[in-house]
Amino acid sequence: MTRPHIAVLGSTNMDLVAYVAKAPQRGETVTGREFRTLPGGKGANQAVAAARAGATVSMIGAVGTDAFGAQLRSALDHSGVDTDLLRTVEGPSGTAHIVVDDDGGNAIVVIPGANATLTTVDAGEEAAIASAAALLLQLEIPLEGVLAAARSARAHGVRTILTPAPAQPSPSSQLRSSRGCPIPSELLAATDLLIPNEHEAAALTGRPDPADAARALLDQVPEVVVTLGAAGSLYAARGAEPVTVPARRVTAVDTTGAGDTFVGALAVALTEGKSMPEALGWASAASALSVRRPGAAASMPYRKEIDTEAGVTA
Ligand code: RIB
Repeated sequence: MTRPHIAVLGSTNMDLVAYVAKAPQRGETVTGREFRTLPGGKGANQAVAAARAGATVSMIGAVGTDAFGAQLRSALDHSGVDTDLLRTVEGPSGTAHIVVDDDGGNAIVVIPGANATLTTVDAGEEAAIASAAALLLQLEIPLEGVLAAARSARAHGVRTILTPAPAQPSPSSQLRSSRGCPIPSELLAATDLLIPNEHEAAALTGRPDPADAARALLDQVPEVVVTLGAAGSLYAARGAEPVTVPARRVTAVDTTGAGDTFVGALAVALTEGKSMPEALGWASAASALSVRRPGAAASMPYRKEIDTEAGVTA
């Protein structure tokens, strides 16, 4: 099978991860067990997930001139991601300061660094988007850059998959669209598939029930997948009732990047022509594998592992 070409525009971070039994409360100091420096960033994570799952991936992003910048580029190269369009800009790379607890849950502070410079899409980047079967976007870089890429994808008829993470500030922010959603209407109008987690879906719509939130989001995008963590995912499309796809039961050691793994694998499955239910099952197998290992990009499975986990026979 020919490998699908997927373009990703998004963040590249060095994840500075402290593993602790229980995350500290405000004002509290706790002693952790271990510290690791691991490649991450929502954009880079989705790029690695898609490349390991079998796609040819062009990463559009930026790293800094610090030591992390070279390490992040090399980590992407090692996973088979094309980094020709990964800019190096003067200054620090993005960093994510992460606390992972014994249940595998996390809390994250992101310092954007070089990612903050991603406000435009140049001609070479537009050409990469135009030649892709899908464009993956998230909200961890400036909105101007995300919008520019979405416009390019729309102009060239490229399927756009948006992960609206991190959740946007508040419905009263300047980004609020005419329908009360904290993402501009133009970006939603250029999105073919929106993949929020349950918290993001609630934040975007004001509806805590994921199925209600998905139905509300269908006013603005044709297809929605709400990721539900251990409960799986919920798929909704216009004209059909939402369906839930269960997740595998796993003992999680680190859920960081599980959503990115899911999105990268789902994009590969869909661009290869799998049906949505089949693609959701395969992506769920990929994220189940990733949560059993520490790190974001470092934990992402390769295609053979996903096929085995999903019960796909050659
Ligand atoms: O989605 C997980 C990612 O969020 C981490 O790798 C971290 O870099 C933050 O951006």
